[in-house]
Amino acid sequence: MIDVSELQQRRAAFMASMVPGSIAIFPAAKEVIRSRDTHFPFRQDSDFFYLTGINEPDGLLILAPELEQTEILFVLPKDAHEEVWHGRRLGCLQAGHDSGIQVCYENSKVAEQLPQLIDGHSDLYIAFDQFPEFEAELQLMLRKLRAAPKRTKTAPERLHDPRAQLHQLRLIKGPAEQQLMRQAAEISMAGHRRALNFVRPGVFEYQVAAELEHEFVTRGAAGSAYASICGGGNNACILHYTANSDVLHDGDLILIDAGAEYQGYAGDITRTFPVNGKFTPAQREVYELVLAAQLAAMAELRPGSNIPRAQDACIDVLTEGLIKLGILTGEFKQHREALSCRQFYIHGLSHWLGLDVHDVGAYQQDGAPMPLVPGMVLTVEPGLYFASDDERVPPRYRGMGVRIEDDVLITEKGHENLTAGVPKSVEGIEALMAQAQRTRKSAKAQNREPQHAQ
Ligand code: GLY
Ligand code: MN
Ligand code: MN
Repeated sequence: MIDVSELQQRRAAFMASMVPGSIAIFPAAKEVIRSRDTHFPFRQDSDFFYLTGINEPDGLLILAPELEQTEILFVLPKDAHEEVWHGRRLGCLQAGHDSGIQVCYENSKVAEQLPQLIDGHSDLYIAFDQFPEFEAELQLMLRKLRAAPKRTKTAPERLHDPRAQLHQLRLIKGPAEQQLMRQAAEISMAGHRRALNFVRPGVFEYQVAAELEHEFVTRGAAGSAYASICGGGNNACILHYTANSDVLHDGDLILIDAGAEYQGYAGDITRTFPVNGKFTPAQREVYELVLAAQLAAMAELRPGSNIPRAQDACIDVLTEGLIKLGILTGEFKQHREALSCRQFYIHGLSHWLGLDVHDVGAYQQDGAPMPLVPGMVLTVEPGLYFASDDERVPPRYRGMGVRIEDDVLITEKGHENLTAGVPKSVEGIEALMAQAQRTRKSAKAQNREPQHAQ
């Protein structure tokens, strides 16, 4: 949990960036219907959560530096009947305590209170197009303010989107957030180790996903930070393969991209390994090339550097390696300039990681790449994809996709790999899987269920 004092600092930092005469409104997320009488699991709006720590639907945060009460929170009312059916609610007292916000009203008061709070402000911050239902209500309130008799009220003249400023704050993770991200990474790693222990020919991709997700939830995560990708063989060439419906075959690789969400923060790890525990020579060649590219990219991550610099290092290695494998033919210089490797490396190298898996924060500043500073967390995830019908590559490489992804915290001295605890060397993977096979064999001999190694 983030301390109340840190939540207060975040709100103060945002308020310090607001233009004079302004008020800001941050709506909470709403429940989303899945089908009749059932909802998707509730997920709080990340900005609202960042500023309040409150994990309930239908709230509203107001920040108004020029009012006597600068912070006002609206939350769901306590309601014995609703709580018996749907679960406990914080209510004003607890929500005020948990968020450190002094003034807290039931959300039934929004219609009456909000126009009074907005009145007199020249500028209003609201995330554009993010909360269409609320924006419609807000427009109505603004219209009424503008139409007040004898112009006794004033509606804001200018609307601003708060996200650029707020997301710049979210981009730098403080010590408490770094700790939560370490925990999200730990839980995500435990899931991947469990998968490495579990995978063998004949099991289904959805069973692998279930193993990962079991581990995440058992360890206190809310679940997955995004739909798990468990693609055997050619399925690994579908970047967002979430069907997870096929059986795993002896001789294929499996690509697993999965991460836990812990107290709002995401882990995001990809590992690729052989279904039978042993890389074929062709698989090993491709795998070691992607690994070398990932390590070259990571070596560039330190304060003052930037993501494009890491991408350049990655592309250098991939280009040279693809020529060595005979997948590209010709001169390095010509292929490097043409970015030929991008035919097979078809996605980005990195994204910010935090409350959202593709976290917020700009990638450019003043027309230049965003310089890395301590407290930023980002992924490093090169890949190569050779579909089974890809005639550009020699047959021995077809039908495999390899991606390796770790989560990296920028530190004063360089960086810390938060997800180093899942093996990614060929030797490390093969040793772990051989150990799992031995454990399964001896459990079978003794006619008992194998325990999952951690
Ligand atoms: N899991 C989504 C990604 O790696 O970006
Ligand atoms: Mn990622
Ligand atoms: Mn991923």
